[in-house]
Amino acid sequence: MGIKVKHHPWNIIQDFWDPDLQEDAEAIFSLGNGKMGHRGNLEEYFSGPTLQGTYIAGVYYPDKTRVGWWKNGYPDYFAKIINAPDWRGVKTTVNGVKLDLAKVKIIDFERVLDMKQGFLSKSFIAELNNGQRLKIHSIRFLSMANDEIGAIKYEITPLNFGADLQIILDIDGDVKNRDANYGEKFWEEVEIDIEPFPYLITRTKKAEFLEKKGKKSPQFYVCNAFDTQIFIDNLQQTVISEFKTQPKYIAQIYNFKLKQNQTLTIYKYVSVTSSVFYKDLEQLRCKAFENLDIALGLGFDELLKQHIQAWDEKWKQSDIVIQGDVAAQQGIRFNIFQLNQTYTGKYKNLNIGPKGFTGEKYGGVTYWDTEAFCLPFYLSTAPREVARNLLIYRYNHLPKAIENAQKLGFSGGAALYPMVTINGEECHNEWEITFEEIHRNGAIAYAIYNYIRYNDEPQYLAQYGLEVLIAISRFWAQRVNWSKPKKKYVILGVTGPNEYENNVNNNWYTNYIATWTLRYTLESINYVKQNFGDDYKRIVQKTNFDEETETLHWRHIIENMYYPYDENLNIILQQEGYLDKEIVPASKIPENQRPINQHWSWDRILRSCYIKQADVIQGLFFFEHEFDLETIARNFYFYEPLTVHESSLSPSIYSIVASKIGDEQKAYELYLRTARLDLDDYNKEVREGLHITSMGGTWMSLTYGFGGMRIKNNRIAFSPFVPQKWQSFSFKINFRNWLLKIYVDKKSVLIDNLSDEPIDLYLYDKPYTIKPHDSLRAKAQHVKHKTQLAFFDK
Ligand code: BGC
Repeated sequence: MGIKVKHHPWNIIQDFWDPDLQEDAEAIFSLGNGKMGHRGNLEEYFSGPTLQGTYIAGVYYPDKTRVGWWKNGYPDYFAKIINAPDWRGVKTTVNGVKLDLAKVKIIDFERVLDMKQGFLSKSFIAELNNGQRLKIHSIRFLSMANDEIGAIKYEITPLNFGADLQIILDIDGDVKNRDANYGEKFWEEVEIDIEPFPYLITRTKKAEFLEKKGKKSPQFYVCNAFDTQIFIDNLQQTVISEFKTQPKYIAQIYNFKLKQNQTLTIYKYVSVTSSVFYKDLEQLRCKAFENLDIALGLGFDELLKQHIQAWDEKWKQSDIVIQGDVAAQQGIRFNIFQLNQTYTGKYKNLNIGPKGFTGEKYGGVTYWDTEAFCLPFYLSTAPREVARNLLIYRYNHLPKAIENAQKLGFSGGAALYPMVTINGEECHNEWEITFEEIHRNGAIAYAIYNYIRYNDEPQYLAQYGLEVLIAISRFWAQRVNWSKPKKKYVILGVTGPNEYENNVNNNWYTNYIATWTLRYTLESINYVKQNFGDDYKRIVQKTNFDEETETLHWRHIIENMYYPYDENLNIILQQEGYLDKEIVPASKIPENQRPINQHWSWDRILRSCYIKQADVIQGLFFFEHEFDLETIARNFYFYEPLTVHESSLSPSIYSIVASKIGDEQKAYELYLRTARLDLDDYNKEVREGLHITSMGGTWMSLTYGFGGMRIKNNRIAFSPFVPQKWQSFSFKINFRNWLLKIYVDKKSVLIDNLSDEPIDLYLYDKPYTIKPHDSLRAKAQHVKHKTQLAFFDK
């Protein structure tokens, strides 16, 4: 499987046509601009396998929960960002016959995603059954400069005949989700017209089941308006067109008689506005028309130019250059490109779905992935408010997180953030995860710490952070219980990050992040009390915080938490009883049984020792400053061989830790896996969509892993090495008020301070100061190879 794209530093190139792999290609060639996105669906008719996917940020439907056996506490619905009206259609009939790409011969096919300039192009020759040939070339982009505009340039040339062509440009709102729980369509028509532009306004259906329960159903309105410009052999034409409308559908239809070798060029400009940003219908409509006026005024080339400039700005901040390995270069750029397409940080009400705008899985909604895997990328490559907006998103959801905890029986302002959400309400409906995967609460606290540490912005605590920390700490304080036999606090019945185990007791990662949160909250209370007395009073009042009693209890938990450990092997235990399992390294699983989640029964997976994703190692990554290197290495060598990395979030964390302990080979092997996970389809599922959130992990495995980037003593620190296969790599970091460029080759490290202020930093643990617009050059130190412990036979 997999479409095996050609290696190229900036482009993703598919140079063959295989209709059966169209779904894989659709995922890989997805486009987005933060506010909307779509899969790389074809503009043409295509009757082969396809997953149509057009998504508008924030536009979701509360799809009623469907489970076999209802359990109290289940959420009412799974909120999903739904497949929205599809605007990319440029469909052709040739002498009355539909040009269906699944039914004609396709010659010289090439599809290119130009990541530098942010557009998708495609060219091919279609040979009809009677030998008539048409040459087609298209370019499509979703403007980064104006995120409500998309545009297509479509060229068609009959090569060996004179053609009667009918071109149908449409907006199709009669779309559905493949994963709709009850097979229903989610859209209703509101308005269709052709003046001043052809447009369609649709709205999402009201969820009746919610209304019946006396709850308000969310409802979104979306306007899609479009216009066209027509050229024949570069001369603009005024052509009469017809319109066809049917429910939730509008098309503009043109008829042309083209001579052999004449080229027809069609520009389709589209504006998409939604009620996520405009509150009434009038505004929605007007804004869409206004956008179209702008697009038409600028024309395709200028619109594209502005879009490319916007991408240029993004690349200036976030590009990573790798010399000596084009596959790795392409991989990292693909990750950076997709992250930037998914989230731009302009809006506080948007977040990052695990598959972004590239598929239906995970519903496009927010997981702990954002805090644990994506935040660092935006912290370092975008203006400060971008990462801040991710934090504010959770701050704004705090009342809902408190409500969510109440539903489960917690009280007194305890908050349990949802595993999955778009509006603050829990939407996940598998009990093992909804109720048990509570470690996500810790990731939200950790993100606050991470943001403040990176930006040296402790005042964030006074404004927003502390309220969240108190609420999360209250949850942990109620979720633990005192074990009489152990004389310790325990946390029972959880799912750790490793989802191949459920309902375990004392998952080390969960226990650790719980007490860490309590410790950090105590520190934060002291800080705010001392430095922002008025804010502290306000927070105490708002949260009804009984400092003395509550913190006394928290301290007792911190001092008496139980952490499972095996004295014989001298390793942290993933959870109590883990070693009762039959421990056999994953290398012994036959290749044809992998991934195990596609071959084994769930029962067999649960009983096995195999670990889906970093769990103990996730904790040792977050809290490495609290452990010595020997401990980190021992646990790495025990757990890595048992990990099947069947979550995309796994290899990056292991790669960073491998770099940390000096195991370059392992770090590189796992890096390749994360960087080209989708391009090479490691997990054999790319057709479902890209693993957007894991791309943040990829970025970290290069910068934190190979670059050894950390914050130490309130300064930025690097300990870089270049992997054997590469000649060099370089990356840029936006750190507080500084912009730094770090270049590493086999012999030297060069750090450029591209800002107007001097910077104090560490390189290989030695302090340096770099003057403004000056550089630091030092000898590259190859990380010493530590002894590799072998717990298992190969
Ligand atoms: C992982 C979770 C993750 C989710 C969404 C699952 O496969 O196990 O940790 O939050 O995917 O990416």
